[in-house]
Amino acid sequence: MKQICVVGVGYVGLVTAACFADLGNRVMALDVNEKRIENLKKGIMPIYEPGLEEIVERNVRGHRLSFTTSYSDALKETEFAFIAVATPSGVNGEADMQYVAVAAQTIAETMTAPLIIINKSTVPVGTGDWMADIVKKYQPEPIPFAVVSCPEFLREGTAISDFMQPYRTILGSFNHEAAEKVAQLHLSLRAPIVITDLRTAEMIKYASNAFLATKISFINEIADICEALGADVKEVAIGMGYDKRIGPAMLDAGLGWGGSCFPKDVKALAYMAEENGLDPKILNTVTITNYERRRVIVKQIEEMLGGLQGRTVGLLGLAFKPNTDDMREAPSIDIAQGLIAAGAKVRAYDPVAMENAHHLLPAIETTADPYTLARGCDALIVLTEWNEFKNIDLEQVREAMKTPVILDGRNIYDPVEMRALGFTYRGVGRGFYRK
Ligand code: UDX
Repeated sequence: MKQICVVGVGYVGLVTAACFADLGNRVMALDVNEKRIENLKKGIMPIYEPGLEEIVERNVRGHRLSFTTSYSDALKETEFAFIAVATPSGVNGEADMQYVAVAAQTIAETMTAPLIIINKSTVPVGTGDWMADIVKKYQPEPIPFAVVSCPEFLREGTAISDFMQPYRTILGSFNHEAAEKVAQLHLSLRAPIVITDLRTAEMIKYASNAFLATKISFINEIADICEALGADVKEVAIGMGYDKRIGPAMLDAGLGWGGSCFPKDVKALAYMAEENGLDPKILNTVTITNYERRRVIVKQIEEMLGGLQGRTVGLLGLAFKPNTDDMREAPSIDIAQGLIAAGAKVRAYDPVAMENAHHLLPAIETTADPYTLARGCDALIVLTEWNEFKNIDLEQVREAMKTPVILDGRNIYDPVEMRALGFTYRGVGRGFYRK
C-alpha cells in the first residue's frame, strides 16, 4: 500500500485522491479550506461530479482515504505528494501561481523524509524548475526530493472514468527514477505512459487543450459557412470524423467552449508565446472566434423575434456543459447578459447549475422544470445539451409558450421534426434546413 498525499481538494485533487485510493493506495487529501475538509469528513462533496460521492464514501469506509488541513499529518510517511491547487487566470491571461507557490513552500517547510512532489495543476512551462527552487529554498535542512509533472486530462462530468481509463499518462522529470516510481502508481490503468522532461510534459498539457479548443472553434467557423451555403454541419462533422487523422471528437458545433480549462489554458499559452516575443496568431483567433459565438446567438434570437425589448426568453441549461454544475466561463453568462442588455426578460432552468448561477446572474428568474420555464416565453434558447432536454414533451412545451420559437444552440433537436411540431426552429450550422 503506497502512501500518497494530495494537496488541494478541488475538482482535480478530489478526483485524483479518491481514484488513487480506489486503486488500493492509502491517500490523505489536504486542503487549507477548513469548511471544505469538515464537509468532506461528513460526506458532503464540494462539487457535483457523477460517481464521485460513491467512490469517496467507499474509500473513506475502507480507511484508504482521509481528509486533513494539516500538512504534517498529510506528509507523515508519505512517498508521493500530488499538488492539485487552483491556477486561475491573472489579468493578462497569465496563470496565477500563488497557490502553487504556497503549497511548494509549505511542503518544503514540513517534509521530514525524501519525497516525490508531483504537479497535477496546469502550470506555465518552467514551473517544475521554479517549484524545485522554492522547495530547496524553504527546506530547513536539505532532504532529497524530486519534482515530477503529471498533468491531468480530466473532463468534468466524466472525470472518474477519464482517470480510470486515460488515453495516456504524461510524466516529466529530470529525475528518471522518480518518474519511474510515479509510473508504477499508474501501471494498473493500462494506458500508454510517456516519460519526458519537465518542460515538455507541461507543454503537452497546454498543446493538447489548445488543439482541442482549436478543433471546436474550427467546426464553429465551418458551421457558419454551412449555414450560409445550405449544408448541415452535423453531417459534415460525421463525414469528417471517419477520417482517422481527424477523428470524431470535439466536432460538435454550438456555442463554443467554456469551463475551467480551455479559456484559461488557451490564454495562458498565448501569453507565454507573447512573453517570448512570438505572435500566436492561431491561438488568438481561436479565442476570438469562440467568444464571438455568444454575441451571434443574441443577434440571431433578436432576428427571430424581430427585437428583444419586452420579450421573455427562456434558457434551457446554464452550466457550461452537461453533467456538471460548473458555471465557470459558461456561454450562458454572456448570453443572458446580452439578452438583458437588449431589453429582454430572461428566465432559466438547469437541472443542477441554478444555485451556482444565482450570484452570477442575479437578474434572471429560475424555474422548477422546462415546462414551467416555457410558460409565457416568446422564445427558448438551448444552452446546455442535458439529456433531460433531449426527451422533453415538446408539444407540452409548445403549448406553454407564447410563441413557439426555439434557437437550439447545441443542435439537440431534429430540424425537420421541430418544424413538423410547429416550432420556428433554428440550430447552429444547419443551413439545409433553413431553406
Ligand atoms: C477539458 C479537456 O477535455 C480535459 O482534457 C482537460 O483536462 C480539462 O478541460 P472540460 O473543460 O471538462 O475538459 O470539458 P470538455 O468536455 O472538453 O468541453 C470543453 C468545452 O468545449 C465545453 O464548453 C463544451 O461545451 C465545448 N465543446 C466540447 C464543444 O463546443 N464541442 C465539442 O465537440 C466538444
